[in-house]
Amino acid sequence: MAAPIRLTSSSSVTLLASYSSSIFTKFKTKPHLGFSISLNAAANQLLFCSPRGYRMTHALAKANLGLTYPAQIDSHKISFTPKDIDLVEWKGDILAVGVTEKDMTKDENSKFQNVVLKNLDSQLNGLLSEVSREEDFTGKAGQSTILRLSGLGTKRVSLIGLGNGPTGSSYRSLGESVASLAKASQANNVAVAVASSQELTPELMHATASAIATGTLLGTYEDNRFKSESKKLGLNSVDFLGLGAGPEIEKKLKYSQEVCSGVILGKELVNAPPNVLTPEVLAEEAVKIASTYSDVFTATILDTEQCKELKMGSFLAVAAASENPPKFIHLCYKPPTGSVKTKLALVGKGLTFDSGGYNIKTGPGCLIELMKFDMGGSAAVLGAAKALGQIKPPGVEVHFIVAACENMISGTGMRPGDILTASNGKTIEVNNTDAEGRLTLADALVFACNQGVDKIVDLATLTGACIVALGPSIAGIFTPNDNLAKEVVAASEVAGEKLWRLPMEESYWDSMKSGVADMVNTGGRQGGSITAALFLKQFIGENVEWLHIDMAGPVWNDKKKAATGFGVSTLVEWVVANSTS
Ligand code: BES
Ligand code: MN
Ligand code: ZN
Repeated sequence: MAAPIRLTSSSSVTLLASYSSSIFTKFKTKPHLGFSISLNAAANQLLFCSPRGYRMTHALAKANLGLTYPAQIDSHKISFTPKDIDLVEWKGDILAVGVTEKDMTKDENSKFQNVVLKNLDSQLNGLLSEVSREEDFTGKAGQSTILRLSGLGTKRVSLIGLGNGPTGSSYRSLGESVASLAKASQANNVAVAVASSQELTPELMHATASAIATGTLLGTYEDNRFKSESKKLGLNSVDFLGLGAGPEIEKKLKYSQEVCSGVILGKELVNAPPNVLTPEVLAEEAVKIASTYSDVFTATILDTEQCKELKMGSFLAVAAASENPPKFIHLCYKPPTGSVKTKLALVGKGLTFDSGGYNIKTGPGCLIELMKFDMGGSAAVLGAAKALGQIKPPGVEVHFIVAACENMISGTGMRPGDILTASNGKTIEVNNTDAEGRLTLADALVFACNQGVDKIVDLATLTGACIVALGPSIAGIFTPNDNLAKEVVAASEVAGEKLWRLPMEESYWDSMKSGVADMVNTGGRQGGSITAALFLKQFIGENVEWLHIDMAGPVWNDKKKAATGFGVSTLVEWVVANSTS
């Protein structure tokens, strides 16, 4: 068996001292359960170079013969610079101007009333008003127009519609449009302005610039790690005009970039195929985050034996059929300075593949070929960890917890009818092996409660029923706690991710009763997301606030055939809102 990894930024002593729960005593009395290795030694032990020069790990080589691995593509960098110059003075490839429908109104002489557009139009000898009339460009959201010019400082001018009463999400869309225009015309540098920015408070100007930056960064991102060839992306600088300048806006832009780096990690983890992203590789990714931001993180990875010591019978049953061993991932964030006022846990479902087990997924529409995305909850949790490692919010301790495994079929696999005992002592009769996510979360939630946290948010691609209820782009949330619902909804609004609260109808628990155990793991087809949430609630300790996010729909974008990174941004905003900054 592979040696268990326990990684700390300094020594195992500090890590052990950080445990306040009963788990601490277990580690202390059983020192063979883990050992501590220095960060550099860890990196050397985990990584070696493949013949083609890519970074590959032992775990990865074992899972796929070493024949498929992600290319080490340098992350694409875009620099964002707020500038205090007039639009007409800017020189570069594309000058993009966000306009509302109101900005597009013209006076009796067919001239723009908006000063920014008026000046630009007169510099262009009326071309802007002419084109907008001809193309019926009225500033509606989703509209855009672009002109190729010659003899001016900028090569192209583009107008991009913001609709009426633009919001954060309109400005993120503006950023996405900028990214696609830049791509279409192979632009290296772009300037973005908003026609009516003079009407905004300085604070709103900064928020606008950072929303545009977010849209541009995520819109430019392409995951080419598994393509044998990939084109180089051109866009490398974006200037913001008329949105302020100075340390405040720079701080905001930096924050957006940090959140985006977490969203991109979330996407990459979900996009990675299940023969590459095994539980072991997911654990390595977590260790990598902890060692990159070692001033604030400690990482503990538990192997099968250690999970058995903790009596995680529910999690281990799901993992039992797989050749790829399970890994229980625990990162702990502590602020670099100051005291901790609130303790939080983020728990993510981490099924690197879900075949359904003996209740195998069959038939059209079962999406078995997409079940690599069944670790989307854990991707959101680790993406948030990466972002928070850079943001370093004060006053909060955050536990990032993932019970990572694969739901497969073999002679050692869990059978329908098996009775499992979870780490809180509750027994579960498995009436469907495909309801595996909740079995892994059961032990992860018990572990989270044992960390002495005040609040837990879990994220999981838990039920197809949630997609039926809310469609592909809205996640369901479930919680007995109205205040926590408010907090998480507020965070999601800042993040621009869609959530809808569904009820935890206690009377539906009737369908989860077993004749022989404390509960079964699936109720009927009806209200399947609600009974799943009621199941999770069985593993939450008293006095812990808890909220569950079923992100089965929004984890994946069917049109783009790619992961969305859903959840990262909401989690970051929620943690930051709970910090003392
Ligand atoms: N990972 C699936 C849920 C899922 C299905 C997510 C489709 C996204 C798309 C989960 O493990 C599962 O199989 N759930 C079952 C539960 C059922 C057996 C009660 C489902 O939704 O069918
Ligand atoms: Mn399943
Ligand atoms: Zn699943």
